[in-house]
Amino acid sequence: MPPHVFISRAIAPVALKRIEAVCEVDLWDGEMPPPHSILCDRVRGVAGILSLITDRIDSEIYDAAGSALKVVSNMAVGYNNVDVTAAAARGIAVGNTPGVLTDATADLTMALLLSSARRIVEGVEYIRSGEWRTWHPSLLLGRDLNGAALGIIGFGRIGQAVARRAQAFGMQILAYSPSLSESDAQSAGVTRADINTILRESDFVSLHCPLSPETRHLIDADALKRMKNNAILINTSRGPVVDQAALYAALRGGEIGGAALDVTDPEPMADNDPLLLLPNVIVIPHLGSATVQTREKMALMAADNLIAGVTGQPLPNAVTL
Ligand code: GLV
Repeated sequence: MPPHVFISRAIAPVALKRIEAVCEVDLWDGEMPPPHSILCDRVRGVAGILSLITDRIDSEIYDAAGSALKVVSNMAVGYNNVDVTAAAARGIAVGNTPGVLTDATADLTMALLLSSARRIVEGVEYIRSGEWRTWHPSLLLGRDLNGAALGIIGFGRIGQAVARRAQAFGMQILAYSPSLSESDAQSAGVTRADINTILRESDFVSLHCPLSPETRHLIDADALKRMKNNAILINTSRGPVVDQAALYAALRGGEIGGAALDVTDPEPMADNDPLLLLPNVIVIPHLGSATVQTREKMALMAADNLIAGVTGQPLPNAVTL
């Protein structure tokens, strides 16, 4: 009997085929994620779950699945949606998809950085609303990247990939990560700094840390007050790393210069969220890894984790506590 698995959304066909060659697949192919209660129903008796960041995988799911469940393969590098501790306590392996989305996410971070520095969205709106009458020496002036300080909070794979790109634009990089050594900082050509120094000295601050109890609301009202009045905050990590109400207040109060967010809290952001009315804010719908090639690589990596887990092999990319 092939192992029975549940896949919570339609993934790249090549990855689905790879799983179907080994497993009996129950696929939820709705546009919206399965509600938690339906997820509980559908995972009864499965050996593996391929989940997405929109699925909360917790003890209720593990209880519903029962003792057959061997693996949760999350198709994302982040796994804050999965209760990894409860999984480990039950001997359920958890997999993720690091590495393959590093470049796509770093590229998107640069897209946000450039768009906010050079006011691209405002420029598009300006033309669409029929305001463009002439070239003017002070029309929509932005900021130079060359010589500007970019603070990177979270200097893992994606933070480092952003640093390499930003260095090519002539930016000076300040980096923080709890594990960043002086020699690693030196070989990456960045200055190791604590979070307060980054907030105080950076013209742009980009967040690349995982969401955890320690990083939830890392950027709160106090942190925002420490930033330069014209600094731009970029978040491509997880929405709750920023206290969004405090961000709105800081932007309204002119405490910082702007924000570019790929991630929000909650997701999706309400369409009447006041942040969306601010001209110096760009919000896009969690597109960090959203390229055809990257999503296919992520799906294949998640497929390999799932197949390894249900066939009793070590996961190629296991999350460890
Ligand atoms: C996306 O946000 C991911 O964690 O892969």
